[in-house]
Amino acid sequence: MKKDLISINDLTADEIKSIFALAGKLKKNPSGYSRSLSGKTLALLFQKPSNRTRVSFEVGMCQLGGHGIYLGPDEIKLGVREAYRDVARTLSRYVDGIVLRTFAHNNVLEMAEYSSVPIINGLSDFSHPCQALADIYTVIEKGREMDKTTFVYVGDGNNVCNSLIYVCAKLGINMRIAAPHGYEPDRKLVSEASELAASRGSSIELFRDPFKAAAGADVIYTDVWASMGQEKETVKRKKAFKGFQVNGRLLALAKKDALVMHCLPAHRGEEITDEVLDGRHSVVFDEAENRMHVQKAVLMKFLGGRGRS
Ligand code: CP
Ligand code: NVA
Repeated sequence: MKKDLISINDLTADEIKSIFALAGKLKKNPSGYSRSLSGKTLALLFQKPSNRTRVSFEVGMCQLGGHGIYLGPDEIKLGVREAYRDVARTLSRYVDGIVLRTFAHNNVLEMAEYSSVPIINGLSDFSHPCQALADIYTVIEKGREMDKTTFVYVGDGNNVCNSLIYVCAKLGINMRIAAPHGYEPDRKLVSEASELAASRGSSIELFRDPFKAAAGADVIYTDVWASMGQEKETVKRKKAFKGFQVNGRLLALAKKDALVMHCLPAHRGEEITDEVLDGRHSVVFDEAENRMHVQKAVLMKFLGGRGRS
């Protein structure tokens, strides 16, 4: 296991599977792990808002017998009051791990370089690894077999999409991404992941037409059209993403038992309709719950708790 979890690329396929196995045990028997991170402290350094990531990490830490300290945008004033590297070096003297939610991905890389304790990326503009791990854990938990699953992502080729591409490629899950021109996922990442997928007998394919991508899908996934930090582009993006909504018409093309997923928060009526988000295919709240179980496994692996495997 590397020191940090900055991107899914920091994990091998076997490490991902072992995180999933431990998450399953933690979910089934939480009280069996109530002292696993006893005496350990996690700093939650957030420059953007959060519901799921903040609460699931903080509660997860508490359930493992450790402690979480939330440091919001106004507390440390990362990069304004103090340089990233100095914050990393100082916090390393106090805590056993740091979850960082930030804007530029380089900020996570800099913190990791200067921190002697693990840095876990809690979302950057390039990746959201903890989200993608919980998402694919949920797909498997719902009984889908990795090599028989077609995972379709409709919308912005953003941080969440990038991380999902890596997990799918590493685990041999077929992935299709339907994004409008100019909003495709990172080109280099797609080409690396496609090669990896090919070596596993699967594929990562880009589509322009969401309806073609959704045909026969086992999973349909979407995320907001304008991510945190892109609010000024909302109007422009609404135009660009017209036709990329996950709605009843699109879902009708997927398999009859297809799962609908969304990392949340959702902009209801934009990238997804109420009918679909609240409908019988939707597993979004199981997905949200699994953030906690999977992150508890991540914490045990990276912070070195008892029961680490
Ligand atoms: N999905 C997710 O990361 O949610 P929050 O932004 O609420 O943490
Ligand atoms: N792509 C979204 C995900 C939020 C969890 C964002 O970065 O705002």
